[in-house]
Amino acid sequence: LLSCTLDRETVAIALGSINVSVSACVPPPSLPRLLIVYPWTQRFFDNFGNLSSPTAIIGNPKVRAHGKKVLTSFGEAIKNLDNLKATYAKLSELHCEKLHVDPENFRLLGDILIIVLASHFGKDFTPACQSAWQKMVRVVAHALAHEYH
Ligand code: HEM
Repeated sequence: LLSCTLDRETVAIALGSINVSVSACVPPPSLPRLLIVYPWTQRFFDNFGNLSSPTAIIGNPKVRAHGKKVLTSFGEAIKNLDNLKATYAKLSELHCEKLHVDPENFRLLGDILIIVLASHFGKDFTPACQSAWQKMVRVVAHALAHEYH
């Protein structure tokens, strides 16, 4: 568990890149990519309308809106590092008990987010920056899986 703690510098680097993407109004499209690359994740979103092709998924406003929610939630994680488990307790409960999302999917989404950031920021996504994000997505996945039993 403790291997998942984050230092402030890590967070500063991660926060720097998330701020750039949000302020440029280009929320990294990680949710659409998750649904395209790992099609079985679509079954959780069967009330989201047309997911029949990559184009449909990318253009789907519900997917887009939900992707923003998830990213905003990552932002909350950054603000509440000292208290991540409590911050994510309710969400963990929701994903576990109501949505029945296997925690493996949190790790998949984390990997996707990193690929999206890398392709968006190119050479600015340095190894140090990647390392910060790897830690970020790991602690978030871990906190979200915390209420599972
Ligand atoms: C809902 C965060 C991963 C499936 C939500 C909500 C948030 C959230 C903030 C909205 C809760 C509400 O409206 O009260 C996150 C974060 C993730 C993550 C931070 C990071 C790893 C996933 C994954 C899946 C998933 C991997 C499935 C593959 C869902 C579904 C909903 C939901 C189905 C309900 C959507 C709806 O019907 O509106 N999540 N989530 N989540 N999440 Fe996640």
